[in-house]
Amino acid sequence: MDKFTIKGGKKLSGTIHVSGSKNGALPVMAAALLADGVTTLKNIPYLRDIQTFSNVLRVLGASVDGGPRILRIDARKCNHFEAPYDLVKTMRASFYVLGPLLARYGKVRVSLPGGCAWGPRPVDLHLKGLEALGADIKVTHGYVEASAKRLSGGTFEFEKVSVGATANLLMAASLAKGTSRLINTAREPEITFLIDTLRKMGASIKLVKDGIEVKGVSKLKPVTTTVIPDRIEAGTYIAAGIIAGGKLTIENAPIDDISSAIAVFGKTGAKITVQKNKVIVEAPKVIKALDISTAPFPGFATDLQAQIMAVLSVAKGTSVVTDTIYHDRFSHVAELRRLGADIRLEGNAATITGVKNLSGAQVMATDLRASAALVVAGLRAKGETAISRVYHIDRGYEKIEEKLKSVGADIKREREEMVV
Ligand code: UD1
Repeated sequence: MDKFTIKGGKKLSGTIHVSGSKNGALPVMAAALLADGVTTLKNIPYLRDIQTFSNVLRVLGASVDGGPRILRIDARKCNHFEAPYDLVKTMRASFYVLGPLLARYGKVRVSLPGGCAWGPRPVDLHLKGLEALGADIKVTHGYVEASAKRLSGGTFEFEKVSVGATANLLMAASLAKGTSRLINTAREPEITFLIDTLRKMGASIKLVKDGIEVKGVSKLKPVTTTVIPDRIEAGTYIAAGIIAGGKLTIENAPIDDISSAIAVFGKTGAKITVQKNKVIVEAPKVIKALDISTAPFPGFATDLQAQIMAVLSVAKGTSVVTDTIYHDRFSHVAELRRLGADIRLEGNAATITGVKNLSGAQVMATDLRASAALVVAGLRAKGETAISRVYHIDRGYEKIEEKLKSVGADIKREREEMVV
């Protein structure tokens, strides 16, 4: 296992390039299962989760190969309709194969994903939504078994906005017989990218006032498309620029997708300038405290909650960060406290009393975004911060240590000695 060692206190200056979006790529990789041919995806990031999902597709019989930043997914030989526990447990997004396989082949068996590091994450909306399209669903022995001769159009209202369930239903409805009305759907940029891709494939999808209308077609064709830049990676580097000090340029940033994040980070006193697809972050002398709640897009993303908390841990004054999407997504709090942060947790709200500085310590990466927050905090902490289990970071940040090193951070990847 690898660990990161960061010597904090170095100001950042220079340019960081944002990679393709993990959460944008995964549903579109699943959508490739809907087409009888070879789908080509460009601007694919080098990430553990992309490798894991490629393996899920291979288990199903698809062939997945590629070149630099390119994936070619050939779904013509799909002949196995089960995503096993061993793969699904490592990455919840494997559940994305449910909708496409059911729509195209009429049967699928997918392991239930189980919880994740910060608590339970249900899939009831995926299942109820597919039932509304005529699927017969059983949950048995830890697996979801779904079947349908051919899905039919239906109406489904999400009681809660869900990115994953919206994606699964969009893919399923695209090949259903008849028109589906999906109400209270997610509008995240990753969903917009999926809709754009499905339309290119021949799907008939219309955005309506309260959701999405999908007119099912009998066939979809394979396409070539380019994955959108990663808005969460961009937001994480904005946080890094603010806490470390200096002037950081973030290029290939998806400006429209991060405008609310830019507005929130701007309230810290940082000067944030937007130029075409670049964000220039000039750190403030003193970081201002602020109160922020996460919300579905276009609100402030839950995937940036941990990183902004790291920034606010050294703000002047008291901040309150509330997560309205995942009420228990706070595994980073205990680790940030080890670095000297003063954070009190009550329900889904964290009250952060800013301290003058953090002090380096040994901490543990517990999940993807929590780990990113520890890297952000480590850039500022006095002395050395050692972050173990960085495989969590490798799931979703491409070469984060190289990117940060190139703008002046003192960060090293090392092999961790195992104590047996
Ligand atoms: C996706 C993102 C994840 C992000 C999350 C919220 C991917 C691969 N992952 O996850 O990084 O943090 O959106 O923006 O894109 N829920 C239910 N029942 C369901 C499904 C969800 O109650 O069947 C709840 C969840 O517990 C959560 C909320 O709905 O409280 C939103 O979850 P959802 O948008 O589905 O998250 P994911 O798609 O899993």
